[in-house]
Amino acid sequence: MENKKLLEVEHLKQYFPVQGGGYLNKKFVKAVDDVSFYVNKGETLGLVGESGCGKTTTGRTLLRLHEPTGGKIIYDGTDITHVNMLPYRRKMQIVFQDPYASLDPV
Ligand SMILES: Nc1ncnc2c1ncn2[C@@H]1O[C@H](COP(=O)(O)OP(=O)(O)OP(=O)(O)O)[C@@H](O)[C@H]1O
Ligand SMILES: [Mg+2]
Repeated sequence: MENKKLLEVEHLKQYFPVQGGGYLNKKFVKAVDDVSFYVNKGETLGLVGESGCGKTTTGRTLLRLHEPTGGKIIYDGTDITHVNMLPYRRKMQIVFQDPYASLDPV
């Protein structure tokens, strides 16, 4: 298998504004703070960590379901951090784990 990078995530940050703080010192939850990794073609990557450490937010942000606060997302050599994601929606997606939530029970 050709060892080419399919997905590269560089210094990804996702901060969410939260209640509290004033106009000049808004408060944020740093859900993802400087996360970098890559996935080669044909590889699977597991992301493991305690509840609330930012696994889901990392996935949602690299799919641009959240606009990243910072960092870079590169898909198959193309920087997709700020592009229109429409052409990529068929290539990158969430597959939900709970079969009862993702499959028609009938
Ligand atoms: N839309 C949001 N607005 C504000 N804070 C958020 C939002 N989404 C996630 N967070 C916060 O970001 C942090 C990371 O949450 P995330 O859901 O990514 O964790 P996780 O690793 O997927 O946890 P779990 O293992 O429980 O699924 C948590 O503190 C969470 O409360
Ligand atoms: Mg999660």
